[in-house]
Amino acid sequence: MSKLRIGIIGTGGRGIHCFGKTFVGSHADEVEIVALADSNPVRAQGAKTELGIACELHDSAAELACRRDLDAIVIASVDCSHEEHALLALEHGKHVYIEKPLAITVEGCLKVIEAARRGNKVLSMGFNLRHNAVVHKLRELVEQGVFGRIFSLQAIEHYNGGRTYHSRWNRQKASTGGLWIHKGSHDFDVINYLMGPQARPARVACFANVSVFRPDQLPFPLRDGVAAGPRCSVCPYVKECPDAAPANDNLLFNDETAAIDGYYRDECMYLSAKDTHDQGIAIVEYDNGATASHSEYFATPLTNRHYLIEGTASHGEGDLHDSCVHWQTRWSNERFECRIGPQKGGHGGSDPSIIQAFLDSVRTGSKPRATAIDGLWSVAVGVAAEKSRAEKRVVELSDLFDPRCDLLRD
Ligand SMILES: NC(=O)c1ccc[n+]([C@@H]2O[C@H](COP(=O)([O-])OP(=O)(O)OC[C@H]3O[C@@H](n4cnc5c(N)ncnc54)[C@H](O)[C@@H]3O)[C@@H](O)[C@H]2O)c1
Repeated sequence: MSKLRIGIIGTGGRGIHCFGKTFVGSHADEVEIVALADSNPVRAQGAKTELGIACELHDSAAELACRRDLDAIVIASVDCSHEEHALLALEHGKHVYIEKPLAITVEGCLKVIEAARRGNKVLSMGFNLRHNAVVHKLRELVEQGVFGRIFSLQAIEHYNGGRTYHSRWNRQKASTGGLWIHKGSHDFDVINYLMGPQARPARVACFANVSVFRPDQLPFPLRDGVAAGPRCSVCPYVKECPDAAPANDNLLFNDETAAIDGYYRDECMYLSAKDTHDQGIAIVEYDNGATASHSEYFATPLTNRHYLIEGTASHGEGDLHDSCVHWQTRWSNERFECRIGPQKGGHGGSDPSIIQAFLDSVRTGSKPRATAIDGLWSVAVGVAAEKSRAEKRVVELSDLFDPRCDLLRD
């Protein structure tokens, strides 16, 4: 079997620590990383060193995309570049794995779907939660009809991840479209996946605020004349701050890489300028009358996702932290439990699974578990949630795009 020749755009955490390391590790026999591209050439060089491979480096995605010696491209750049990078890769006839979100606007998603249709190549949407064993089990139960007709779903995310979301680019809408798109797109996709294709999101209402990660909530007293921040690695309060997490000391992220693009990963999450939220709730009505809610909390000691399913036949719950699914029938009140247990690999085993599935799809042409159309539906809910929050009103998805347009037929 000849090796698949792969290029990676975006040599940061996801591109290198997840994809790059997996390719040179457990997939070394079937994959060759031919080229890496990053707008920061020092980071790209650090990535090459970290992977310990002899590959070509590019400082533009366009240069990498037009290489003739690539079968597939992994897009792991910042969210606001996904649309451009996907269009480049598809126009040059490459199979694509694209990290969520597909794009940060609905229009961008539609353009990518159109290009994917024209090119007839695999586009695997990076919804690794679909490969999580708990979500997979819930979906299996849905398909077996265990819940009957689902009329309501709740997704609750606790993520002790203030650092990830409020210390770097993720906190700015210009980079992500907002956290409901950047982060929520995962959960809106899980809700859509469990609802099934016969129900489509129709309208969204949302409330979200910055309640904790703001200057008046610094978790330590300031000393006279001694300012805090701006980054943990230089902050005079690093020893007093329970949230301090200096992060500026590896081959991808250090003073040399930051000298090129000013990108530090440890900006004070209380003082950093941000235009997104640290807690909020989005509620969705589906076109069949079903309802759903997704709530996310970033200032919390917990890291977990919990799903609740209400159906005409059963109530169900899935818990990612406990790796467990249980359900209870409506009239006979029988209770069933499926303990899945810990899975190997990043994100509860979903990273190795989605990577393997992508490679299989490229080799066989099989349809990925999540497509660009799935990417659009989750982004559309996220865009509507951001709009609802900003305009304090219910937002109709049909005001954002035509949900019945031909492009969206699978
Ligand atoms: N599926 C998941 O579980 C998951 C987890 C984390 C991140 N992500 C997604 O993966 C992507 C990368 O996130 P990350 O945490 O690795 O970020 P990161 O900041 O660690 O890496 C992003 C990289 O993209 C590079 N970049 C920025 N603009 C570019 C451009 N125009 N051309 C080429 N390179 C460019 C940056 O220099 C950086 O090296 C994001 O879209 C994020 O939403 C997904």
